[in-house]
Amino acid sequence: MAGLTAWQGLFEHGQLQAGETVLISAAAGGVGHIAVQLAKQAGAKVIASASASNHGFLRELGADQVVDYHDSEAMDELKGQLDLVFDLVGFDSGLSALALLKAGGRQVTVPTVTAPQIKEAAAAQGKTALGMMVHPDRTALATLLEKCAAGDLQVHISNVYPLSEGANAHTAIESGRTRGKLLLNPCN
Ligand SMILES: NC(=O)c1ccc[n+]([C@@H]2O[C@H](COP(=O)([O-])OP(=O)(O)OC[C@H]3O[C@@H](n4cnc5c(N)ncnc54)[C@H](OP(=O)(O)O)[C@@H]3O)[C@@H](O)[C@H]2O)c1
Repeated sequence: MAGLTAWQGLFEHGQLQAGETVLISAAAGGVGHIAVQLAKQAGAKVIASASASNHGFLRELGADQVVDYHDSEAMDELKGQLDLVFDLVGFDSGLSALALLKAGGRQVTVPTVTAPQIKEAAAAQGKTALGMMVHPDRTALATLLEKCAAGDLQVHISNVYPLSEGANAHTAIESGRTRGKLLLNPCN
């Protein structure tokens, strides 16, 4: 699911091309850390936003530049620079990211709850924002699995929980600070 969201957001909706500059927010999260790798492999310049503690992790995955979203001056330096924003945060973060687009740039905003608001704000500014809903795609999934098997795509598993501790997995996700994916083990 995370891989397909990254694939469809970057390439189907975002139409990311080699040589373009993309900002990926929540880049260390489940969708984001896969998107960083796919965008880099597609020949894009990848700017990853995350807390400072995740910057080394993201550089290892191929990010060309990392930025801490808590640092408003660093974020301001990106104004008007981006061909594509892959917005995995939505809300105020998604709204303010519109200012980072260059003329003709576009934003794909993934959290569905704030997508209508961000699309409306973009239209008022003469910019393009698209919402998305991941859909099943056997061909893209096969491509992603081939990349994993070949060692070209890493899926970072930060913790594995027995099913009986599923509530703890949810608590961790609700912190909004998890790196990569968490797994539930139904056999345990
Ligand atoms: N529309 C769809 O079809 C679809 C499909 C999949 C997912 N989604 C949605 O997409 C979003 C991302 O999913 P996910 O599974 O990748 O999330 P996740 O793994 O829970 O994301 C965790 C990451 O979010 C970052 N983060 C938290 N607050 C942030 C903020 N204010 N600004 C920037 N980064 C922030 C954290 O970064 P740091 O720790 O570095 O601070 C953390 O690494 C979720 O809202 C999810 O519901 C939608």
